[in-house]
Amino acid sequence: MFRLIGVSHAYDDGVSALEDVSLKIPRGRAVALTGANGCGKTTLLRVLNGLIAPTKGEYFFDGARIDKAALKDARFAKEFHRRVGFVFQNVDAQLFCGSVEDEIAFGPRQLGLSEAECRARVDDCLKLLGIEALRNRAPYATSGGEKRRIAFACVLSLNPDALVMDEPLAGLDVGAQETVVELLRSLKAAKKTLVFATHNEALVREIADVRVGMDSGRIAAIEEPPRSREK
Ligand SMILES: Nc1ncnc2c1ncn2[C@@H]1O[C@H](COP(=O)(O)OP(=O)(O)O)[C@@H](O)[C@H]1O
Ligand SMILES: [Mg+2]
Repeated sequence: MFRLIGVSHAYDDGVSALEDVSLKIPRGRAVALTGANGCGKTTLLRVLNGLIAPTKGEYFFDGARIDKAALKDARFAKEFHRRVGFVFQNVDAQLFCGSVEDEIAFGPRQLGLSEAECRARVDDCLKLLGIEALRNRAPYATSGGEKRRIAFACVLSLNPDALVMDEPLAGLDVGAQETVVELLRSLKAAKKTLVFATHNEALVREIADVRVGMDSGRIAAIEEPPRSREK
């Protein structure tokens, strides 16, 4: 589903954040990116999500080359972003509506779905994330853990094939972490493709089929994590 061939990325200031990364992620696979701060995890996730383009190398999603030209094609970009959902580490950047229900309905409305379908998706996603009580609240005035759940609900409202998540457990208390882990379990069971950066070893063992260890912008190791799942 995702295929990177010799991808490098240098930021405008010349900082080289990815060096010659080649990686294949088949559909339905759960992949954890691990490694020290600054090793390039977030940069790699941004490339996968089309937020930044490789400065060298090639990126294909389901056989289609993802580059600046492809992402300038509004129809292609819309469908690509629908299929690949992105949950930022700092979810504040992704919440901007006046109420949680409008926030979740935003994407489906952009897709041009009927108002009844948008409402049904809002209801489903509020329920899935256990945030029905937040429906009429202002997203910016919710707690960190609530914001993360709202951001997940927004992404899931588009029914993506793949979820790309940057440190989905960071900054959450134990209860909120458990909610997100439970969600990831069910997404995995639903055969969604999952790619996430994390420092949480338990999450890697529980969810990931593959761990991609990074070091200084390069892939240092690709391995199957030891199983902790009872399944
Ligand atoms: N917007 C940016 N502009 C310039 N350099 C950046 C930017 N974002 C990240 N970097 C640099 O790129 C490298 C990789 O960062 P990042 O992908 O955020 O790593 P990680 O997520 O693993 O902590 C680091 O050296 C970091 O300082
Ligand atoms: Mg990061």
